[in-house]
Amino acid sequence: MARLAPNTMFKSGLGTTQRKDNWWLQPVLVVFGLGSFGIYSTWAALQGNHYAFGPYLSPFYSPLFIFDWWHWSPALLILWAPLGFRATCYYYRKAYYRAFFADPPACAVGELAEHRYSGETKFPFILQNIHRFFFYLAAIFIFILSYDAYEAFWFDGHFGIGVGSLVLTANALFLGLYTFSCHSFRHLIGGKRDCFSNCSLAKAQYKTWSIVSILNQRHMLWAWISLCTVGFADVYIRLCAMGIIHDIRII
Ligand code: FES
Repeated sequence: MARLAPNTMFKSGLGTTQRKDNWWLQPVLVVFGLGSFGIYSTWAALQGNHYAFGPYLSPFYSPLFIFDWWHWSPALLILWAPLGFRATCYYYRKAYYRAFFADPPACAVGELAEHRYSGETKFPFILQNIHRFFFYLAAIFIFILSYDAYEAFWFDGHFGIGVGSLVLTANALFLGLYTFSCHSFRHLIGGKRDCFSNCSLAKAQYKTWSIVSILNQRHMLWAWISLCTVGFADVYIRLCAMGIIHDIRII
């Protein structure tokens, strides 16, 4: 096992350089953040009620499918797609491998357990390669959630703005930033090209790739903000639907 010298600087679980003496802080934050979201979202998805209020629809239940033959929460019909997208995300993989399993614990740090590290070359972790297919589904969800955000500005056929309208708009925006800063999308846009200057289509492709690359540099940030906004959107709509809080109408 590799040994760290006192006060060694190393890459921590969230990708920032950190001193050895508080190496545990970011893994603990990751466990707390992902653990809290996992517990709440599982509970909310299983409820099967209080997911809509006025023109607002919780993102955990969108798109909403109601079938006579389905006797459980409608969220279970759709949540596997965004859940699969997050669970296989390159950033989250790094974060939860380090925080939950300490395997590997960090860059250039030896393993805690005595075994050969095989990365994602064997079952079950080789299934993480399905991420690019989850990206296609997640991109469709962004259009659906954007439509939900648009609908959230229409109250009984009249335009209006409530706090819920802004919450759902922020949710669609940050989920969009997270989704379209994805490494798979960046590869899809320009990953296979050797030359970006041989035709006008390639130049347009280069511009798109450049924008996605800028977004990609902040992928971790979008991952955490969007996790908070999607959770908060469900909490807000749930509390309104239960009558615990009142939606404030701005217009
Ligand atoms: S790499 Fe994070 S969503 Fe694709």
